[in-house]
Amino acid sequence: MSKVTVVGAGNVGATCVNAMAIRETAGEIVLLDIKEGLAEGKVLDMYQTSTLMDFDTNLLGVTNDYAKTAGSDVVVITSGMPREDLIGVNAGIVKDVVTNILKYSPDAILLIVSNPMDTMTTLAQKVSGLPTNRVFGMGGALDSARFRGYLAKALGASANDVDGMVIGGHGDTTMIPLVSKASYKGVPVSEFLDEKTLGEIAAATMVGGATLTKLIGTSAWYAPGAGAAMMVEAILNDQKKMVPCCCYLDGEYGQKD
Ligand code: 2OP
Repeated sequence: MSKVTVVGAGNVGATCVNAMAIRETAGEIVLLDIKEGLAEGKVLDMYQTSTLMDFDTNLLGVTNDYAKTAGSDVVVITSGMPREDLIGVNAGIVKDVVTNILKYSPDAILLIVSNPMDTMTTLAQKVSGLPTNRVFGMGGALDSARFRGYLAKALGASANDVDGMVIGGHGDTTMIPLVSKASYKGVPVSEFLDEKTLGEIAAATMVGGATLTKLIGTSAWYAPGAGAAMMVEAILNDQKKMVPCCCYLDGEYGQKD
């Protein structure tokens, strides 16, 4: 039976657990938070949807009790503040979380969601000393989902019929929507959408997170949580999916460091 831990019971962490619970991604899912009662409460609320949503995932919420996360196959780290200017605070939090997690789950694969995600992923890899193929950051999955969504709206199509990837960093200026590779049922989107529209879609994708923060007043959580859940499912089931993600490169694609 596979086991997944999600650290951080904020909006993103809880949404991730909820998505995985409903999809029965893992036999057991632990949600851990430093705030007394928060993870327990959210997990109890989710558990009470199990007869309504028809799932049987074993869920556990804990307050800072890392022993309960022991033996996790994948650990998703969402802890920290949503704002990038709190990089110092988040760095300390991510360091602590990684150290505690590895005490009880030395074989886990780490998936980092905390922002600034690219930096936190690098930090987690360095602090953990884990092989670079065991520490990933979730950003490309989210940005690609947003890209496909914007393309689908412009095409008047189902987002599931639209293929597209965003590579690069998870930042307004560092991400690269691969417009020329995007397709609608295998046909390049440039056959349906003009250059100006495609430019606007790429631009909207790049500020996708900021647009939501402006609308909601805080960072988004449904798509970020679902992005992490999808990656966990792909890893646990070895689905051979191609998902753009943050990882350390040592010569791959001609890139280093
Ligand atoms: C997002 O892109 C803020 O990273 C978060 O929604």
